[in-house]
Amino acid sequence: MSFTTFEQATPRLHRSELAVPGSTPALFEKSARSAADVIFLDLEDAVAPDDKEPARRNVIAALNDVDWGAKTLSVRINGLDTHYMYRDVVEVVESCPRLDLLLIPKVGVPADVYALDMLVTQIEQAKKRDKRIGFEVLIETALGLSNVEAIAQSSRRLEAMCFGAGDFAASTRMRTTVIGGLNPDYGVLADRDAQGERRFYQADLWHAAQARIVVACRACGLRPVDGPYGDFKDPDGYVSAAKRAAALGFEGKWAIHPSQIELANQVFSPAPEEVEKARRIVEAMAEAAKEGRGAVQLDGRLIDIASIRMAQNLLKKAEVIGAASGTKPR
Ligand code: GLV
Ligand code: MG
Repeated sequence: MSFTTFEQATPRLHRSELAVPGSTPALFEKSARSAADVIFLDLEDAVAPDDKEPARRNVIAALNDVDWGAKTLSVRINGLDTHYMYRDVVEVVESCPRLDLLLIPKVGVPADVYALDMLVTQIEQAKKRDKRIGFEVLIETALGLSNVEAIAQSSRRLEAMCFGAGDFAASTRMRTTVIGGLNPDYGVLADRDAQGERRFYQADLWHAAQARIVVACRACGLRPVDGPYGDFKDPDGYVSAAKRAAALGFEGKWAIHPSQIELANQVFSPAPEEVEKARRIVEAMAEAAKEGRGAVQLDGRLIDIASIRMAQNLLKKAEVIGAASGTKPR
């Protein structure tokens, strides 16, 4: 199969994905009224073993009873290595017609996704479910990252891959203290400058994993989504992490606290100046095409047909955001 023939996954706005523990029903109504594009109700790591079954009941009730508006709703099931998983899938998918996605944690090999696809397909057929369940998977283990390209092609239900920095650090024995945060030791001590000084430049220890996930996703028409940033009292750290992810091509980022939702929505929405610039690029290239040229100058810089593609991606995104919020693109 050629990568160039991959279809884009079901289009959805995915700038922010709010994590809501299934064991805390008091948060459900509030999260439904939040500005998050996607909400996942968690049955996995935010829920203690003794709470797994009550959390599942809470989540089923909330999916059916709360008014979620137009939000994309996901449930993070327990991992395939636990005995909770099969009941999570059967009970939630059988009884929640509103559900859009399942978030599958700790995916390690394509067969993990295949197993879930098989189970969900049977449930959909047996229950004559109208809405087809989509999948998002968490790449958060050494095994998952080492198979990420194959996982990206593992199921037509797959829409998005999320990077889980917390479990990834645990799996690879990376040394961090904050989920998704940096490590002051990770960087480069530069050679001495003319004054004999040596500067230390801190670097981003997530870059290699994230870049690989973005490429695997984009090759296969999936949305790459950056995962959690644990220090919710550090909005600057969150925004900086989100901006790095956005620069690499990520579509959005998790919010593990409501205060992170607006930050993600802002970072992953094109700014008005970017939209304006993209429009000018498209116009300049349309003029160039009339004159039979494939490249021209705009503001003293070269633009060519690749620039049109970048500009069109941005304009399309602005249009989708405008449509979702009922406003014209900024
Ligand atoms: C998310 O699940 C993570 O482990 O960071
Ligand atoms: Mg995890």
